[in-house]
Amino acid sequence: MIYLSNIQKIVQNGFEKAGFHNEVIQLTESNRPELSDVQCNDALRLAKQLGKNPRDIGESVKSILENESVFEKVSVDGPGFLNFTLSDKFWIQKFSHVTENERFGLYQTSAPQTVVVDYGGPNLAKPLHAGHLRSAVIGESVKRILKFAGEKTIGDVHFGDWGLQMGLVSAEIERRDIAPIYFDKNYEGKYPSESPVSMSDLAEIYPSASGCAKEDDNFKKVAQDQTVRLQNGERGLRALWQHCHDISLEAIKESYRLLEVDFDLWMGEADVHDRVRDLIQEFKADGKLEESEGALVVSVKEESDKKEMPPVLVLKSNGSVGYHATDIATIDYRFKELHAEKMIYVVDQRQSLHFEQLFRVVKKLGIVPQKFPFIHVGYGTMNAKDGKPFKTRAGGVLRLEDMIQILKDAAGERLREPNENLARQVGVAALKFGDLMNPPRSDYVLDLDSFTQFEGKTGPYIQYTAVRIQSILS
Ligand code: ARG
Repeated sequence: MIYLSNIQKIVQNGFEKAGFHNEVIQLTESNRPELSDVQCNDALRLAKQLGKNPRDIGESVKSILENESVFEKVSVDGPGFLNFTLSDKFWIQKFSHVTENERFGLYQTSAPQTVVVDYGGPNLAKPLHAGHLRSAVIGESVKRILKFAGEKTIGDVHFGDWGLQMGLVSAEIERRDIAPIYFDKNYEGKYPSESPVSMSDLAEIYPSASGCAKEDDNFKKVAQDQTVRLQNGERGLRALWQHCHDISLEAIKESYRLLEVDFDLWMGEADVHDRVRDLIQEFKADGKLEESEGALVVSVKEESDKKEMPPVLVLKSNGSVGYHATDIATIDYRFKELHAEKMIYVVDQRQSLHFEQLFRVVKKLGIVPQKFPFIHVGYGTMNAKDGKPFKTRAGGVLRLEDMIQILKDAAGERLREPNENLARQVGVAALKFGDLMNPPRSDYVLDLDSFTQFEGKTGPYIQYTAVRIQSILS
């Protein structure tokens, strides 16, 4: 939190006055907020170093800092932890700094950097679900804040459109014999301009295919084979892919529009496919790739690693490219063509290993300089009241569109006169605020009832307060 840096100086000063010079004093947010706001463990560290009693050190610092007006209370607890409770005066100053400042306390950069924010991350053929909400909402906020600070932001949706899911979809379409023309290798004519499947077909085809692949090895092999053939440019599969791509993206854009989330780039994994091929050739020629069970990989292990760090899979043994490869090429594109100076990924915390490997491999391959700043903003899972990832009553994932509808309906019920647009605004505010109120990294419980309350910490309450203040003022 920003406020820590202000108080750090004061506490550092306290240690100085107590006779501890040139020490870097560290503060952390208290892990027991009911006891204090901020804590400091340096008395323990110094005591060990100097062979002194930690409680004595704590007490001597406490007696110096006690009278500082920013603290309501200073205490020495346990073996020698210093705990600080911040005073009302501190908070008032802090917030007037924010409210009286036309930049709300945010910095204004004098040297704008090009920052790519990768968020959203929807996938072809899969409708957006509750889990995608966090990336969209947090990512949009990160982008808007940086933009407000004056950075050159580029929001990219990074559409997941080039993996096995497409092979699964096409294999299922072939099996159902819905559109045989796309699978006829002897066909040389034009393909229909109308898609053979609709978005609601896809929403049913994908889960059914993915379920099938888990039980039926043969079907899975067909899907894998079609993924390779698609990536190798087989005409029919490519044409079918284009249809699925376009209708999926259109549906996804509609959901984002409802959420007021917008992207500068609607690019996807498929857009860097040629770049992937070129890069692989180049790396091969430079001897940067190792062979492992028929696949091409790069080891990213470092000596200091305390956990397992598997190698990065650049080209699979069946010749298809996967998640890592498209991400590598995307970084290459962003660095070379967009001149990105920083990349921020707002993606589920559960993918943190993927990003650790990715950030290492692009440095190792020389795609970006060693010091290039990458940030993975990992967010926690949205759970149901039972603490498990949210599922609908039927056991499926809750679609984002349905979620927005539920909130819209709940908001609508409370409006005195029916008003579609107002209901949407209140519903979306409930959803976004309910999400942003939680620290990004924590898991949280999706409780649609409490989100739409008109009192307490909710989006509708903020809207209500703003409207009220406006009406008092006028
Ligand atoms: N499509 C991915 C998923 O649903 C998220 C993509 C995140 N961005 C990235 N550059 N890998 O898991």
